[in-house]
Amino acid sequence: MPASALLRYHERSKHRIDRYAPGPGGLDWANQPDPFRYFAGAAAIKLPLLGSELPTRFNAIRRGDLPAPFAFDVRSVAILFELSLGLSAWKSYGGTRWALRCNPSSGNLHPTEAYLLCSSLPGLPAGVYHYLSRDHVLERRAELDDATWTSAFADSGVIVGISSIHWREAWKYGMRGWRYCQHDCGHAIGALCYAAAALGWQTRFLDAASDQLVATLLGLAREQDFGDAEREAPDCLLWIGTGSPPPALERMKDAALTARWFGCANRLSAEHVPWPDIDAIERATEKPATPPHPDPIHVALPPPAQPTLDLSFATLARKRRSAVDFDGRTTISAEQFFAMLDALLVRERIPPWNAHASGPLVHAALMVHRVTGLDPGLYLFLREPSDLAEMQHAMRPDWLWHKTGPTHLPLYLLLPYDLRASAKSICCHQDIAAASCFALGMLAHVERAREEPWRYRHLYWECGLLGHALYLEAEAAGVRATGIGCFFDDEMHRLLGIRDERWQSLYHFTAGGPREDTRLSTLPPYQFQP
Ligand SMILES: Cc1cc2nc3c(=O)[nH]c(=O)nc-3n(C[C@H](O)[C@H](O)[C@H](O)COP(=O)(O)O)c2cc1C
Repeated sequence: MPASALLRYHERSKHRIDRYAPGPGGLDWANQPDPFRYFAGAAAIKLPLLGSELPTRFNAIRRGDLPAPFAFDVRSVAILFELSLGLSAWKSYGGTRWALRCNPSSGNLHPTEAYLLCSSLPGLPAGVYHYLSRDHVLERRAELDDATWTSAFADSGVIVGISSIHWREAWKYGMRGWRYCQHDCGHAIGALCYAAAALGWQTRFLDAASDQLVATLLGLAREQDFGDAEREAPDCLLWIGTGSPPPALERMKDAALTARWFGCANRLSAEHVPWPDIDAIERATEKPATPPHPDPIHVALPPPAQPTLDLSFATLARKRRSAVDFDGRTTISAEQFFAMLDALLVRERIPPWNAHASGPLVHAALMVHRVTGLDPGLYLFLREPSDLAEMQHAMRPDWLWHKTGPTHLPLYLLLPYDLRASAKSICCHQDIAAASCFALGMLAHVERAREEPWRYRHLYWECGLLGHALYLEAEAAGVRATGIGCFFDDEMHRLLGIRDERWQSLYHFTAGGPREDTRLSTLPPYQFQP
């Protein structure tokens, strides 16, 4: 039964203080997966690099002041990909170099792949395209200039499909790697919908589609094009448009099944280690077709306060980095802290929450270390205020639950205490959790996935959206953040006194004053283009 398979995976993939989740036990460098997938034989359409010309400010996006929508054409689509999944820099050290992207990824392994599905646009024939970030090109996987496909797109807009190559993460992290693929998918959704908003577009998660339909539309089910190359698991489809109704997916499916497809996937590693737990969780969380989720009801909220820096979105998207070390000294003000949290509340038509189908199912348990005007200690940020009674019941009975911060911010002080040592030990002994201004764990309502197991994946995606908002907010606040996938799950639950398996911490995060690694050189993102 899928629900028990899900729970089994969840328990087995927990890191424990006395035993890490099953992993490869050492890195097989000779088999390191290629971080770039390409389709040999597919025509590549070179995209222009125009991101720097986009004037939209980040602060306007987070307040919902979007620019007039750009027309859909090869130039605007190029900006969408450049500022979401494109390369942001190359780093080099000791004779090796590696690419960084606008979207973060656990271990910089980048399991996420992205596809564009469009009707005929100026400069871009109708079809299915794979985005190859290394070269900033769209590889034309399918030619779809037929009436069925075109008529499915009722109005202007495109679909971006996302898939994951689980092996990329499993190679380094073993069975827990599947979780990281889901986080990364959430970050990719976040990155796309912020970039879309910078172009004046709205993003909508097409949550009704089955995995099978996603696979068909993206060409992932075409055995003949993959051969012995690693398969891609279908994740989701995003409708990016001007607010108009999404295309008729079933009609698109018929067209995709009879289309001409091009290209063969490259093989990423010479050899593979099987991870049966990953196969099992993939099966257990397979999504069938479902009725679309009703639109969540939005409560009117004041706009979030201005961040410290007023950056263009393009600058911010490329500037986002994970801190590898914090200085252990930097403080942020309570106002800066509140503004960052405020951006995690769901506001209508504001990214990244416009790409989220349900209401909030993830809260943040914060370990505050260096926020001026706020006691160091344990706090709970309830993104869905109506969960208060349930959370109080689920957690240690003697927490204070002192409401703090602006009235509309559901932030509660549970315990004033210096939690730097706890934060470090919970996050697999990583210093970044203690030397930061604050660290947090994302508490997800996993019970919601019991009846509909595919929602387990959506919970990680929601965590990825939170993480992505925090990465950008931290940069705009003049500090830096880091996603933390390595944490001892049950140690966090123990700290909070959670006696209830229905709430589980699925992702951790930390933000503070970064300490740069001066040994590394940084090079521009597209210097090595062929
Ligand atoms: C899901 C996820 C988990 C991560 N876990 C950790 C972690 O436990 N420790 C850490 O130092 N960095 C962690 N990172 C940061 C990545 O190492 C980083 O994103 C990657 O190296 C790419 O660098 P960039 O974010 O600067 O582009 C994580 C990132 C993600 C998205």
